Amino acid sequence: TGNREKFRPTYHFSPLYGWMNDPNGMVYKDGEYHLFYQYNPYGSKWGNMSWGHAISQDLVNWKHLPVAIAPDALGTIFSGSAVVDFDNTAGFGAGAIIAIYTQNSDRQVQSIAYSTDNGRTFTKYENNPVLTSEARDFRDPKVFWYESTKRWIMVLAVGQEMQIFSSPNLKDWTFESRFGEGQGAHGGVWECPDLFELPVEGTNDKKWVLLCNLNPGGPFGGSATQYFVGSFNGKEFVNESPSKTKWMDWGKDHYATVTWSDAPDNRRIAIAWMSNWQYANDVPTSQYRSPNSVPRDLSLFTVDGETYLQSAPSPELLALRDASKKRSFKVNGTRTIKEMIPSNDGAYEIELTIENQHADVIGFRLYNDKGEEVDMQYDMKEKKFSMDRRKSGEVSFNENFPMLTWTAIEQGGNEEQGGKEALKLRLFVDKSSVEAFGDGGRFVMTNQVFPSEPYNHIDFYSKGGAYKVDSFVVHKLKP
Ligand code: FRU
Repeated sequence: TGNREKFRPTYHFSPLYGWMNDPNGMVYKDGEYHLFYQYNPYGSKWGNMSWGHAISQDLVNWKHLPVAIAPDALGTIFSGSAVVDFDNTAGFGAGAIIAIYTQNSDRQVQSIAYSTDNGRTFTKYENNPVLTSEARDFRDPKVFWYESTKRWIMVLAVGQEMQIFSSPNLKDWTFESRFGEGQGAHGGVWECPDLFELPVEGTNDKKWVLLCNLNPGGPFGGSATQYFVGSFNGKEFVNESPSKTKWMDWGKDHYATVTWSDAPDNRRIAIAWMSNWQYANDVPTSQYRSPNSVPRDLSLFTVDGETYLQSAPSPELLALRDASKKRSFKVNGTRTIKEMIPSNDGAYEIELTIENQHADVIGFRLYNDKGEEVDMQYDMKEKKFSMDRRKSGEVSFNENFPMLTWTAIEQGGNEEQGGKEALKLRLFVDKSSVEAFGDGGRFVMTNQVFPSEPYNHIDFYSKGGAYKVDSFVVHKLKP
């Protein structure tokens, strides 16, 4: 009942009609970010998998294009990646965009297709598939160029491991190594890998990051993204901390995360599918199902000798702020703020800085006049940040949906308890999602919510002492 389009996000990407899951084939070329995605053009549940397509010049305004790659006799089109073949290694033309993807039937094989018109049309390679196996789960190729050996590298998800292959031409592939046994979380099957090098903040070092999406077996059940930090020599990835499990996002709706190939200025930009296989087919939208996360710029930072991935909101998101609808509030202790923004349509960003922390719990609730709320807390004693969506609106469509998610935090703390920097939080709210970025993206929590009307109030509270909100700004975000 009611208007189901009320959940459609205004500044997150969602398909106009139909089902979407993983982002696929993300590649930047000639000023355009290409986003392909797992798409059912014929219905709003999973099926008929094809590659949907959209392009953007700024990562926030997207133009919908026709289906790029459709099923054929080898199977439906599952996840994969795309590269620009600058040196014409495959012989389809210098600068061709080449998509490398899984075809699913009673087996899973890898195929390629090329485009010589900047992704507007694709031609399938006549000798597909280019890589086969006896393995049942053998999918989601991520391909990139490795300059020192002048080879294309493919990382493939195979059951509960990643396999690495190399090729001079994207057509002939050689097995190089496998990674996974005894490493990280194994509560489910490994899917949608990515592998890239990043500088380590504050050093001249670079390290390699292997993204590994896992389903089920996430920290709060179902799908989630784990990652490994280490080295890669063109053949083999070595994890520098085999005994650690690292999660990229601490919410329930962050999956199939992969990054853009050839992004400008050496940027490493990631996008996730903002849902979870536990309930993705049941969420209360009907014309379409499931958006993507906001784009995030990745970097590496080190704490106590351990290197972690930081996911900051991409700078392009700043351009969405409607300067005329910015509100700064003074907040003290438990003061309640009403009327966050005039004509609130449920799409806004909140920036929060809390310096003086003499409380055990620093909490705030986003809520609406129906009494639906998302409760967030910094627990300064336990050093945790949490988000509770159990009363956020429609939650009963699946028993795995109502949930409190939490993460350990480094930042903040009472001065008496050795506390350091101010707590800094950016919250991106968009109709049916809340993404919390703590401390510049050192922790991230992404959760869907389905309120019957937008959250239009915020209420600050504390337990075991008081705190001061030094700055609290609400930006209306333009569609
Ligand atoms: C991940 C996934 C991939 C697969 C695709 C099928 O969400 O299961 O492993 O290629 O979805 O739609």
